[in-house]
Amino acid sequence: MRYGHFDDDAREYVITTPHTPYPWINYLGSEQFFSLVSHQAGGYSFYRDAKMRRLTRYRYNNIPADAGGRYLYVNDGGDVWTPSWLPVKADLDHFEAAHGLGYTRITGQRRGLSVETLLFVPLGETAEIQRVTVTNTSDATKAVKLFSFVEFCLWNAQDDQTNYQRNLSIGEVEVEQDSPFGSAIFHTTEYRERRDHYAVFGVNTAASGFDTDRDTFVGAYNGLGEAAVPRSGASRNSVASGWYPIGSHQVDVSLAPGESRTLTYVLGYVENEDKWADDAHQVVNKEKAHALLGRFATTEQTDAAFQALKDHWRRLLSTYSVRSTDEKLDRMVNVWNQYQCMVTFNMSRSASFFETGIGRGMGFRDSNQDLLGFVHLIPERARERIIDIASTQFADGSAYHQYQPLTKRGNNDIGSGFNDDPLWLIAGVAAYIKETGDVAILDEPVPFDNEPGSEVPLFEHLVRSFQFTVDNRGPHGLPLIGRADWNDCLNLNCFSEDPNESFQTTGNRTGRTAESVFIAGMFVHIGPEYAKICEYKGQPEEATRARAEVAKMERAVLEHGWDGEWFLRAYDFFGNKVGSKDCPEGDSKILIEPQGYCVMAGIGVATGEAKKALDAVKERLDTPYGIVLNNPPYREYHVELGEISSYPPGYKENAGIFCHNNPWVMIAETVIGRGERAFEYYKKIAPAYLEDISEIHRTEPYVYSQMIAGKDAPRQGEAKNSWLTGTGSWNFVAISQHLLGIRPEWDGLCVKPCIGKEVPEFTVTRKCRGATYRIHVKSSGGTGTVKLTVDGKPIDGTIVPFAKPGSTVHIECEAS
Ligand code: GLC
Ligand code: GLC
Repeated sequence: MRYGHFDDDAREYVITTPHTPYPWINYLGSEQFFSLVSHQAGGYSFYRDAKMRRLTRYRYNNIPADAGGRYLYVNDGGDVWTPSWLPVKADLDHFEAAHGLGYTRITGQRRGLSVETLLFVPLGETAEIQRVTVTNTSDATKAVKLFSFVEFCLWNAQDDQTNYQRNLSIGEVEVEQDSPFGSAIFHTTEYRERRDHYAVFGVNTAASGFDTDRDTFVGAYNGLGEAAVPRSGASRNSVASGWYPIGSHQVDVSLAPGESRTLTYVLGYVENEDKWADDAHQVVNKEKAHALLGRFATTEQTDAAFQALKDHWRRLLSTYSVRSTDEKLDRMVNVWNQYQCMVTFNMSRSASFFETGIGRGMGFRDSNQDLLGFVHLIPERARERIIDIASTQFADGSAYHQYQPLTKRGNNDIGSGFNDDPLWLIAGVAAYIKETGDVAILDEPVPFDNEPGSEVPLFEHLVRSFQFTVDNRGPHGLPLIGRADWNDCLNLNCFSEDPNESFQTTGNRTGRTAESVFIAGMFVHIGPEYAKICEYKGQPEEATRARAEVAKMERAVLEHGWDGEWFLRAYDFFGNKVGSKDCPEGDSKILIEPQGYCVMAGIGVATGEAKKALDAVKERLDTPYGIVLNNPPYREYHVELGEISSYPPGYKENAGIFCHNNPWVMIAETVIGRGERAFEYYKKIAPAYLEDISEIHRTEPYVYSQMIAGKDAPRQGEAKNSWLTGTGSWNFVAISQHLLGIRPEWDGLCVKPCIGKEVPEFTVTRKCRGATYRIHVKSSGGTGTVKLTVDGKPIDGTIVPFAKPGSTVHIECEAS
């Protein structure tokens, strides 16, 4: 069942009912100011850091789930309603919420009145714009009163929901009813002391009233759906002092039949060097706020900013696009998958409707992987991110697992010890250099743990990353796992019996026995890239040494990491096998990660293990909804394995379909020339293909979710944790670079489609290093065998040399 439809020309998903199975959200902003907005206008805004600089309040675990957002109450001759349906829930004659690229447009109609709200964050601004158009569709004149509503958060989102003894006394606001460009409310809590920032909520017209005190506006015993002021039809001009500051303007609109009126509301963040407008420190300096409101004083200004945003996205998405016979494939590749890559790049795993924005900052491994799907969009930002991430590395090559976006400092609470982290940095840097050719990044001075004075060239960070794995191997010559590798839930040194301990940060045992075959696969995969980087750096001996280490690791995997039919997952603290046919009944016998990664690395391709491992995946892990992480699921808690065995069977890392690793298997299938199977796996989890089963899948049909319940779960097929997942970038890598098969390599653009007959013909346009490549592909089979003709001349192999900036290269490809 569907709850809306894709509008491919507009690049929107148009939701046509408020009653989706779960709030379906969008992200506004892609630089400094961000908003989450659901199809019912729920969500919140923040500046850079969802924990430390939260502008508006949102309550997770609420009832109903999505209560709280930016609302516009309409009082139409005593009839009170909200065009977003929530919170008033009055029946609407028409409802539509269109999520587009960086904007959302919500339209509600009732009794001859139509109200459309366009929400977006303009480029270069630290503000959310709400452009509201009210239209009288009846044949009588209407006098309508509009009441806007935002609830301010007291900045630190964690403190905001825990420290009431202080917080209920600190709220402060200022109101400017005759502000230079309309009416404005300033949220100035804590500005009197250490903050140099405040929020402003303005509307570009004279308001006939305002409220800033929540209890006055809503009524102390009311829910938001019963807010008192909109019902009574008159603002009370309340000025908050402590308690719960809000922002609300009353705007009265009189409309002849057919007439429309457009208003612009601005919710902005302002940071001041000069805090005060007077010597007595009584008057907040509002200059920047006024300037901001002045930039959106007219509808023309607002429309121009919106157009600029649309142009921006059109440009971004022109870097990689496909036209094929499969409209679902095209909409995933051309629009939604790339869009999700932008969002994960911006948010890492911090703020979504499943991540509260206070728990996790930017993940070291997460952000490096996010880069893989983002780097082609805005390489300059990828560059900056690489430097930020590398700056949280330690001198021994290990790394902070997370850092806060505001301070860019490593997070001490979670610390380090995830032994896959260092290698992901090499993956991120390799992808960046292949995209841009910018080898100079290797010479950038980058500190360790952000310590001034500790700077070394970025290249040296990569040397230490590589060396970290070399230096930390266990009894079988395989990498030590540390706290955990990519699978945060395989905690082999944790040994926790205490429910109050975090699996992520507890290590009750120390030892150098628990080893990871997954990290070994990663090392073999990324090692050759590292060797290439060494060559670019003029260090051929280091490249030779690296290749020798890789070969050694490959032997260790085949000798000690092969289980007969598939790759082992790990050795535990006691040296016992994890993910082996020999594991006792009730334990998992096979886990997905090493199957995908070892084959991606090419291990066992020549000698047959690779094919066997992928056949085992098909037989034991594949389901109608995607590939599960492990099988059978762990039935009981295993103290020696940790969190993986804590989840009920079929969920999360215990035999859920953990979508992040499915593309590894897709790519692996292309490595052994089985493009048809790769595409079959692709379609199982790509959201556009799941639109028709939205009632089962439940999360947004335009973005990937982290996890879909696996075959052992009662709610098989149901997804959770949409948006912020490495699934976004890895699926884009899989489909664009390996199935459609176009990717920048060190010496040119690789053209090697491997997708099979189901997509018999397609054209990819790829811009890279200033040149444009038009690649027309006829695909008669999925073995990865190709014949290329470049500008009319046949060439050998799969690499098309990089062309001069400004030029266009025409490539004909026969893939069989
Ligand atoms: C989450 C984490 C990621 C981890 C994965 C598997 O998605 O963000 O870092 O690799 O879970 O546990
Ligand atoms: C839990 C989750 C895992 C996530 C981790 C982050 O272990 O199962 O997916 O990566 O928490 O801290």
